[in-house]
Amino acid sequence: MRLRREPAIQIKVPAQIERMYAAGQVVARTLAVLAHAVRPGITTADLDAIAEREIRDAGAVPSFLGYSGYPASICASVNEQVVHGIPNGGQRLRAGDIISIDCGAILDGWHGDAAISLGVGEIDPADQALLDACEASMWAGIAQAVPGRHLSDISNAVERSVGAAGNYGLIREYTGHGIGTEMHMEPAVRNYGLPGQGPRLRTGMALAIEPMITRGGRHVAELADGWTVVSVDSSRAAHFEHTVAIAADGPWVLTALAGEKSALAERAGVSLDRRGLIPAATAVTRADDGLVKRTGPGGDGDVG
Ligand code: MF3
Ligand code: CO
Repeated sequence: MRLRREPAIQIKVPAQIERMYAAGQVVARTLAVLAHAVRPGITTADLDAIAEREIRDAGAVPSFLGYSGYPASICASVNEQVVHGIPNGGQRLRAGDIISIDCGAILDGWHGDAAISLGVGEIDPADQALLDACEASMWAGIAQAVPGRHLSDISNAVERSVGAAGNYGLIREYTGHGIGTEMHMEPAVRNYGLPGQGPRLRTGMALAIEPMITRGGRHVAELADGWTVVSVDSSRAAHFEHTVAIAADGPWVLTALAGEKSALAERAGVSLDRRGLIPAATAVTRADDGLVKRTGPGGDGDVG
């Protein structure tokens, strides 16, 4: 007999993590193509069409399409939209907008899920600071994704990073999630909370880590389309996400584009090798630098 306090978290063997890496790379390449395509005049439906073609050309399947009836292959969330914006042929990007693009793919039965936020043409420096604060908080969370840490060490690191960056609204209603043979699996990965709580992280787990913040308050609402999540105060929002495996050697960022360097990751103290592996030594050093501060109370939320 086996007793557990928590629902099981799927554990993958190394060969399965390799397959998740292949799925993650489809997502990474698709997002890279989309980032390049973002410009004034393009519609979010155009971006969706590009994404679907990239994913299918890679022999993969868009995981969002048809998920709970979702009608597209990406989420495209512009300005005050936080997440789950539905691509729309009537929504033309303009210089100065900011956009979050969230993308998921299934390859050989394994899922990858990632999101980026970026500016359209030239943007307000305060919007760039918002994007940077959100990305930096994701890297701070990723640095905690090492065996032996607790799940909420990720949450706490994200929250502290956002708090240190400025006066941003940190969304609580949506969370990251376990990922593997399904897009959304146990456990929910909150972006706030006390350190040292929840299950211990083990080699072979995979998590989607995805902070969402605004330039204003933390409260959000869902539009009548049943999907689009906006900030209640209409403040602009950012969202970043990576699928990360807990590898014995350190956090393995499966959706990081091969060979790509991230300045914000470096600034957060994590350095990725060509395949997105962060040597445990750097991650743990980073992780050790403060798991002491207590922050807000817990709460429940929907998966991002
Ligand atoms: N990628 C989102 C997440 O991070 C899910 C998108 S919702 C969908 O969890 F319905 F579009 F798939
Ligand atoms: Co996700």
